[in-house]
Amino acid sequence: MILVTTAGKVGSAAVRLLAERQEPVRVLVRDPAKALALADAGAHVVVGDLAAPASIDAAMAGVTAVVLVSPAVPAQELNVVAAAARAGVGHIVKATSKASPDAPIARRRGQSEIEAGPAACGVPHTLLRSNAYMQNVLASAPEIARTDGFGSAAGKGRTGMVDARDVAAVTAGIVAAPAAHAGRTYWLSGPRPVSNDDVAAVLSGLLGRTITYRELGFEEHKDAMIRAGVPEQVAHMNAQAFSLTAEGDAEWVTQDVPTLLGRPARSFEQFAADHAASFA
Ligand SMILES: NC(=O)c1ccc[n+]([C@@H]2O[C@H](COP(=O)([O-])OP(=O)(O)OC[C@H]3O[C@@H](n4cnc5c(N)ncnc54)[C@H](OP(=O)(O)O)[C@@H]3O)[C@@H](O)[C@H]2O)c1
Repeated sequence: MILVTTAGKVGSAAVRLLAERQEPVRVLVRDPAKALALADAGAHVVVGDLAAPASIDAAMAGVTAVVLVSPAVPAQELNVVAAAARAGVGHIVKATSKASPDAPIARRRGQSEIEAGPAACGVPHTLLRSNAYMQNVLASAPEIARTDGFGSAAGKGRTGMVDARDVAAVTAGIVAAPAAHAGRTYWLSGPRPVSNDDVAAVLSGLLGRTITYRELGFEEHKDAMIRAGVPEQVAHMNAQAFSLTAEGDAEWVTQDVPTLLGRPARSFEQFAADHAASFA
């Protein structure tokens, strides 16, 4: 049995792929009403909370491998690692980002703390360090639909953004047959770096009207995210990440997705076409 710790973007897509392959898969969710489609797809849905260790222990019964994906609060994900070690789980696949102990963004330092967990507990593991997800662009969809434009503190920086569906496909493939991936770190990206001017051009072509990108300052972008409902602390870290993007921090691509999947990584053009209705 494979346990996927949450049913967000990567978790839900990974659960579906595993269920399609007839792999026994369980998904832990706080609200089972949000996971009805996953249950219909064949997943075993369990109710729990990553902040409640007893609920994680209950979800871990009979589990051989874990997909660790969540908002990456260190105490919560380390609860999962400890429960996996207690249950004798054979492998953890951890979704993470550009993490390091001395990163300028707290979220990346937290990821680094979590990444060290499986090794400290002696659980074989694989780290999937992804570039920004293309799905982040969907956060601008309401603004684009309303104003034909969007803004960011990313300046002219380019991002090797990856489709979260590809991250899920890599995750599912590894967790279903993890032995060859123990101790490995993969850097997941899309096929090429994309700037926000590229995003605007792709969306303009797709939607048949001109979409304009505006460069924002740090505070301007942070305030816009807060107004859109993002918690202040998260908006601050996001604005930090976008400011680093402006300096070239996200301009990396690798061949890990095509190598692991045996097909090209999805392009931003493909992603945008698949989500055209959201931007219209
Ligand atoms: N976004 C990016 O660009 C990016 C890039 C690289 C790496 N990552 C990494 O990807 C991971 C996030 O993956 P994602 O984007 O697929 O997640 P996501 O779509 O943001 O979904 C997070 C899920 O976690 C659930 N959740 C939150 N707190 C929980 C708790 N205490 N107990 C149980 N479930 C809880 C939420 O469920 P509810 O519905 O109950 O709230 C939601 O389903 C993070 O490690 C992040 O750093 C993201």
